[in-house]
Amino acid sequence: MEEIQTKIEFKPETLKEIDRIIKQFPEGKQKSALLRVLHLAQHEFDNWLSVDVMDYVARLLHINPIEVYEVATFYSMYNVEKVGKVVIEFCHTGPCCLVGAEKILKHIESSLNIKPGQTTEDGMFTLKAVECLGACGYGPMLQIGETFYENLTEEKVDTLLNDFRLKFN
Ligand code: FES
Repeated sequence: MEEIQTKIEFKPETLKEIDRIIKQFPEGKQKSALLRVLHLAQHEFDNWLSVDVMDYVARLLHINPIEVYEVATFYSMYNVEKVGKVVIEFCHTGPCCLVGAEKILKHIESSLNIKPGQTTEDGMFTLKAVECLGACGYGPMLQIGETFYENLTEEKVDTLLNDFRLKFN
């Protein structure tokens, strides 16, 4: 998908919040604010971090762009490619697989006709296969936004996908 480039600049209130976050760390240690600033950036810039956005964050924190790229590409909660309206982070780590995660993942793949790392043609769903999300006792599970959906079955997944379709269509 082609990115339509607009001027990259945080809203004044976000810049104020970033300043507050940076001040929580000792002088010269502003890199410690990076995770939180990336969250704010992702939230403000269409739920993903383009190279331009990451470069902007690097300039704000007075660090090298590569330091931002390293962090943004390491953690699965950051999107470094354009994503759909609904980002499904599906846990495919051992404990969830023991209780049927692979079967549920295949069901999601065939329902949406995409594989992990892909976005549906209508731009509605992005599917990501991620490592343990810390809800191992409630697998199979997935995360959308800040909400966990646990003890998944194919029926639960169908309902969930339909609910999101209704919400965003
Ligand atoms: S293994 Fe799936 S949440 Fe921990």
